[in-house]
Amino acid sequence: MQPVSVIGLGAMGSELARVLLGKGYPLTVWNRSAEKAARLQKAGAKLAASPAAAIAASEVTITCIRSHTDTRRLLEEDPSVLAGKTLIELSTGDAAEAKSMLEWIRAKDADGLIGMISVFPKDIGKADSAILAVGDLETWHKCEAVLKALAGKSALVGKDPVALAAIYASLVLPRQGFMFGMIYGALICERAGISMDAYVDVLPLTIRIVDDYYDLFAATVPEGKFGDPPASLGVYHAAFEDVVKTCRALEAPDELPRLLRDLLQRGMDAGLSEQQVTSLTKLLGNGPLAKSGS
Ligand SMILES: NC(=O)c1ccc[n+]([C@@H]2O[C@H](COP(=O)([O-])OP(=O)(O)OC[C@H]3O[C@@H](n4cnc5c(N)ncnc54)[C@H](OP(=O)(O)O)[C@@H]3O)[C@@H](O)[C@H]2O)c1
Repeated sequence: MQPVSVIGLGAMGSELARVLLGKGYPLTVWNRSAEKAARLQKAGAKLAASPAAAIAASEVTITCIRSHTDTRRLLEEDPSVLAGKTLIELSTGDAAEAKSMLEWIRAKDADGLIGMISVFPKDIGKADSAILAVGDLETWHKCEAVLKALAGKSALVGKDPVALAAIYASLVLPRQGFMFGMIYGALICERAGISMDAYVDVLPLTIRIVDDYYDLFAATVPEGKFGDPPASLGVYHAAFEDVVKTCRALEAPDELPRLLRDLLQRGMDAGLSEQQVTSLTKLLGNGPLAKSGS
């Protein structure tokens, strides 16, 4: 197995290192506070004397400290060691910082991936966990086995770091849509005198349907096939007209229901009343989604 170095042994970095060591990767580690390496050393990892020594020890180095800015500051102490090496940067930063980090790595004649760890340390090493990465395909192929050893569903999501920010936003949105749905649901219940205990008790009835929504989405949007709906966009629209009326009657906050009703109204106005509700992706998209199927 290819030797790997890990720089940064905080809650996440030490778990990345522990899992790689457990899976048989020859491992070199470095951490600003060297005492955090003690347990890994006992388990067989080598402790490097500096970040540059850690990079020199392996073809592939994972950096996992606080931020891209900190990583860069750390590596700037001896950047010449990066030439010909591959860096997987798993520290955090925004799209602009990630882009500048990737450019900086390449300017040192090194290959780089910027990754986003989408799980807690306890889930590192699991088959259904993911580290999502951006960079070029050739670099991905060099790092794929290591990243999949750390998180089985790891994937390259694009070349440009903006893809990482985009996939983050696109994954946060569905779950926060659900969270905010419950928040507005609670406000409606409150105005109607329904206790939060009663609301919490019945919520699982609606949570079950979320799986069906995923199946519907996966069966319609990728292929752009929106005909033959079990419940048409027109049915959703009528339901949301009722929800908005209920909010009004109860004087409950209605920003979220109105936003959804208005989006559905746009679908109605565009003649999609007999289509799947997911046909809104076609209506609202302005690229491949807008041009998709029927
Ligand atoms: N923990 C999570 O659940 C989780 C999940 C996804 C992503 N992440 C990301 O993983 C990265 C590490 O998180 P963590 O949970 O491991 O954090 P942590 O437990 O707070 O550890 C921070 C690590 O960064 C090092 N560090 C901080 N500033 C440094 C600097 N200026 N120079 C050198 N080393 C520095 C620390 O070294 P010392 O030990 O010397 O202080 C320590 O190794 C972060 O970017 C975080 O956003 C974490």
